[in-house]
Amino acid sequence: MAKVRFLAHGHSWEADVPAGTTLRDASKSIDAPEGDACGGVCACSTCHVYVKKGRELLSAAEEEEEDVLDKAFDVRLESRLGCQARVVGEGEIVVEITRESLDAYFNEHPQVRDLRKG
Ligand code: FES
Repeated sequence: MAKVRFLAHGHSWEADVPAGTTLRDASKSIDAPEGDACGGVCACSTCHVYVKKGRELLSAAEEEEEDVLDKAFDVRLESRLGCQARVVGEGEIVVEITRESLDAYFNEHPQVRDLRKG
């Protein structure tokens, strides 16, 4: 099992997930606001997150993921696509949900209050 903590704008969400779980599936299991406009098929980059801790506990990025990340906003060394990064080890993983991903999530879930608005 791994503990995945999602961070966004001073809020946090935690999920305990078994090996094989993607970050996207972990976020969905606890309603953390990570976007996934393409449904998790590596075609949109709205699941873009920054891995702050536990990068070594995730599967390595493949070429397809790198290609999609090339089109994402504000890509950093710790960038990953949540639908492609899969838990492969035990420990703690901390990820920050990107602005791009929050935008997508709150656009797709108008019934959920955008935590960035007062
Ligand atoms: S959900 Fe679209 S690329 Fe991950």
